[in-house]
Amino acid sequence: MSRTVRIGLLGCGTVGGGLVTLLAEQHGQILERHGVDLELSRVLVRNPDKKRKGVEPALITTRSADILASGCDIVVELIGGVDDAVRLVGAALDADRSVVTANKALLAAHGVAVFAKAKARGLHVGFEASVCGGVPVIRALRVGLAGDSVESLSGILNGTCNYILTLMEEGQSFENARARAQELGFAEAEPSLDVDGHDALQKLTILSELAFGGIPVSEVSLAGIRDVTPADIRRARSRGQVIRHVAAANADDGTLRLSLRPELLAASHPLAAVRYENNGLVIRARAAGELTFLGRGAGALPTASAVLADIIDIAQAA
Ligand code: HSE
Repeated sequence: MSRTVRIGLLGCGTVGGGLVTLLAEQHGQILERHGVDLELSRVLVRNPDKKRKGVEPALITTRSADILASGCDIVVELIGGVDDAVRLVGAALDADRSVVTANKALLAAHGVAVFAKAKARGLHVGFEASVCGGVPVIRALRVGLAGDSVESLSGILNGTCNYILTLMEEGQSFENARARAQELGFAEAEPSLDVDGHDALQKLTILSELAFGGIPVSEVSLAGIRDVTPADIRRARSRGQVIRHVAAANADDGTLRLSLRPELLAASHPLAAVRYENNGLVIRARAAGELTFLGRGAGALPTASAVLADIIDIAQAA
């Protein structure tokens, strides 16, 4: 027995476009394996004149009210930014629709209120795509380590920073590498969010809430990668090291310290091998020990893969 589940899509940019592609490619397999017939009910965009591959023109709208009016079962928020996103996600929950979002800025700023509203109404908020793209680190913390105690997190959480540092290792300038990351759809619309470390801080905030829930943050130390020079990278290499932007959270003495900065890593460090737009996360848990996750942290299809997994989860739970 299969069930049709209709998706109201907010935003059809890099990740939204990836989701449309993946939905078309995976539709048959999802129906067969999971018993859900996923279809798009309406797609909210800013520019209705832009051609959207794989989206029937009749589904496109510029009016947010059309999404809920389309009778969708799940709202997928991929517009990014905070103000419109928090309003539209709030409206979806008020209208009894579960939500899937990739929006780390939204969750870092308003996650507590969004999750409380969803819980009060018996709804779901899927957010696997908000951290580490296609690498299922949210599930690892929420489900895989549900019975354990996390002691520390340490990771490369921003694909753009890692892409830039990797291309600089190959002799390219910071500016060229950043422009390429923008062309490839890894960078935020405002790339200073990536290179100054804010995007990684948002992701570390989400992970920390899951891992250490409620422990107060006593210190945040934030630096981006703007000051890393080609000479720094050459010096590191001559010593057998690499420079990576590392986000770390440590819970000691009942408080949580967050640190995000470029660090020198020995070649043998598990995060030293993370290159280009890939991300990595090392979780140290009291019983399970050290767990390492590596994979594509940015880009249309890896991120869409995580969004689609959440859609299937919610569709099956309904
Ligand atoms: N700009 C982000 C990054 C996209 O580079 O990691 C994925 O969250």
